[in-house]
Amino acid sequence: MLKLVVLISGTGSNLRALLDASADAEFPARVVAIGADRDADGLVLGEEYGVSTFSVPFTAYPDRDSWGDALIEEVRRWEPDLVVLSGLMRLVPPAVVDAFSPNLINTHPAYLPEFPGAHGVRDALAAGVTQTGASLIVVDNSVDGGPIIAQERIPVLPGDTESSLHDRIKPVERRLLIQAVLDIANSHLDLKEFARS
Ligand code: GAR
Repeated sequence: MLKLVVLISGTGSNLRALLDASADAEFPARVVAIGADRDADGLVLGEEYGVSTFSVPFTAYPDRDSWGDALIEEVRRWEPDLVVLSGLMRLVPPAVVDAFSPNLINTHPAYLPEFPGAHGVRDALAAGVTQTGASLIVVDNSVDGGPIIAQERIPVLPGDTESSLHDRIKPVERRLLIQAVLDIANSHLDLKEFARS
């Protein structure tokens, strides 16, 4: 059974999909803890699904590195096989990458390397592209520039707003994430192969 720690900043709708998937006894992974960098709405899912939660508030630390050290300590308690950044809207410092990568993955609402950063959906709309996408990457020390595990194109439709487009991207992110978790658990996907030397 693959043990997952999932880190969020927001509503955690992609996290909910993972929790639903792991409610199936046949699914070979379990979310063992949900963590956040703030008082994230999605932390309530812990209670709903009976999963432990923790918060390491970014603003409670003097700098990114000390926040990262506290995050490492909390995550390590759960001895995860895989750490999923599912809408964690914070760059993690190098110590976090060193501690968990390549078993540290991130979903992103754009077709990387297009539109990295905190506003992938907004930036794609502003650029006027006719298609964007969803990506799943291994986290490295760049901004959304790590090795791509999976990605898929999604059309931008006339009249799309940031929220309508994001609402069509998220189900694709969920599918890519759940498939990757399945493949890792079943040894069909080896994240070490994505690690850069
Ligand atoms: C997801 O689209 C995720 O890819 C994105 O935040 C959303 C979280 O939604 N992450 C990033 O943009 C990271 N750069 P959720 O809280 O509803 O799951």
